[in-house]
Amino acid sequence: MISQEIPFADAAIYRLNDSEALVQSVDFFTPVVDDPYTYGQIAAANALSDLYAVGARPLTALNLVSFPVDCLESDILVKILQGGAERVHAAGAVVAGGHSIEDDEPKYGLSVTGLVDPRKMVTTCGCQPGDQLYLTKPLGTGLLTTALRGEILTETDISDAIIGMTMLNKAAAEVMLAVGVSACTDITGFGFIGHASEMAEASGVGIKVFINDLPAYSQALEMAEMGLVPAGSHRNRDFYSPRLNGHENCDPLSLDLLSDAQTSGGLLIAVAKEKVDVLEEQLTAAAVPVYRVGEVISGASGRLFLAT
Ligand code: CO
Repeated sequence: MISQEIPFADAAIYRLNDSEALVQSVDFFTPVVDDPYTYGQIAAANALSDLYAVGARPLTALNLVSFPVDCLESDILVKILQGGAERVHAAGAVVAGGHSIEDDEPKYGLSVTGLVDPRKMVTTCGCQPGDQLYLTKPLGTGLLTTALRGEILTETDISDAIIGMTMLNKAAAEVMLAVGVSACTDITGFGFIGHASEMAEASGVGIKVFINDLPAYSQALEMAEMGLVPAGSHRNRDFYSPRLNGHENCDPLSLDLLSDAQTSGGLLIAVAKEKVDVLEEQLTAAAVPVYRVGEVISGASGRLFLAT
């Protein structure tokens, strides 16, 4: 049976038997950085992220490629694929094939497949009132990659965000499974505002967001101040702001960060209060950044309450 029993998860889930379910996801996008190898790494880390959000172990990946064969050197494509393969191997999975087409603008991503134990898998619908919310990567990659495209910042300027985007959510997912958590999602294109409110809605709860504690990569807020907000982030803000309470009193730059569309963002994990210390300890021991960003409150399904 397909994921009828598990309607709210980041990936497609197909139960094979009592202890195994197949997990699939796909994502691809245009270049977010200039260096082709790094772009490949980021695209792969991003595609694998949905599997990690449900606690799955990646097994295989298929490349999806659009490339302007006549305008760009094939060496660039080779580097993109090498970067993707490096992250897939770091995930303990294999690149098992793929498909390419000719296109005016390069696009790259992967379709990824893995396995999860359905008894241990993590969904978005398990948040319980009182749970504490943790984020495992800073925000601001939409703002920073927009500044990069506009040649306001260089790749060196945004190197901490680039390192963050290439980082797999593997270690965070392993800790999450070992500790046992209530719910999880990964923060990608819909930004913190979208993914947090979707997880709250799936769980039938509200979320109090500690808006001043949202972590940002360096210079992200400066770019927001300059108005370098990408179109996707504007759309996130327009679509999800009806679900916000308390935004009248917030610094507008914090709202830009809250809405910022992320590439290969971190995991947003809801965990019971009594497990907070062990989660923080184990994430830190695994060299995963850990930021407490909110807590789950009863009722008000899907609403985010911004608290300063
Ligand atoms: Co996701």
